[in-house]
Amino acid sequence: MKRDLVTLLELNRQEILHILDESARLKHLKKRGIPHPLLMGKTIAMIFEKPSTRTRVSFEVGIAELGATPIVLHAGEMQLGRGETIEDTAYVLSRYVDGIAIRAYSHQTVASLATTASVPVINMLTDLTHPCQILSDLFTIFERKGTVEGITVAYIGDGNNVAHSWILAASRLNFTLKLGCPEGYEPDSEIMVEAPMDRVALYHEPREAVEDADVVYTDVWASMGQEREVEKRLKDFEGYQVTPSLMALARKDAVFMHCLPAHRGQEVSAEVIDGPQSIVFDEAENRLHTQKAILTFLLSS
Ligand code: CP
Ligand code: NVA
Repeated sequence: MKRDLVTLLELNRQEILHILDESARLKHLKKRGIPHPLLMGKTIAMIFEKPSTRTRVSFEVGIAELGATPIVLHAGEMQLGRGETIEDTAYVLSRYVDGIAIRAYSHQTVASLATTASVPVINMLTDLTHPCQILSDLFTIFERKGTVEGITVAYIGDGNNVAHSWILAASRLNFTLKLGCPEGYEPDSEIMVEAPMDRVALYHEPREAVEDADVVYTDVWASMGQEREVEKRLKDFEGYQVTPSLMALARKDAVFMHCLPAHRGQEVSAEVIDGPQSIVFDEAENRLHTQKAILTFLLSS
């Protein structure tokens, strides 16, 4: 039976912990220059409907380092852009490649691709979720704090795809998630039903959400596809910027994380993202190691 990664609900606790361990092992091998061609001879297609820097480069480099061949496809340059269905695309690509990764607007596009393709499908971000990001962020926390379970993560800002994947991660691993979102920008109810209510709390006051946090996390106020809402969102998210005074309410050894790209002066102040508590570039680097762990988990099982 092939495995996909469309949302984190498809992984159990043991499998997530295995991916984190594997990320550490693959990082160690890379840092020592030890080759690890675990997917030698395979080919993986990557489809992009939206822009990407980190996800695209970390997957493409990761695939090459595993001895496999990446093929980057921009949806607008495929027949998909001229109306070919995602199902026909899935049937055809499954005849050529060993895995398909996709970044799409609609979550349903990725779900349909996964249902139809006979090879593993990986969600590289949709409007609803961003599972590879959060697996990698869990690895970064594991590296820094020695554990993921038992810690408190404060997510401040938009209840978006990144927040949704944090919630789904909390349904699988034993950590506390405190969400601070403005009214009207809470996570979707279809995701909130998965939240373990004893460990996931929603606040409309960022100061309450960051109290006792080991990790303060934020993301952009306007995601890809929401560019026309920027002006309204800048007003609606007033007071939700992660500033030094907000960070001061978290634990003394708290770290600041952001999936990037960031907008200094909007969701985070330059003092915080460029300051000593910020680990955003280690976080970005770890995308590479965790993508490789995800790929080997899905394509070798
Ligand atoms: N964090 C993240 O997914 O970045 P990109 O949009 O650059 O891939
Ligand atoms: N929420 C952001 C994440 C970017 C990695 C977006 O969807 O644009």
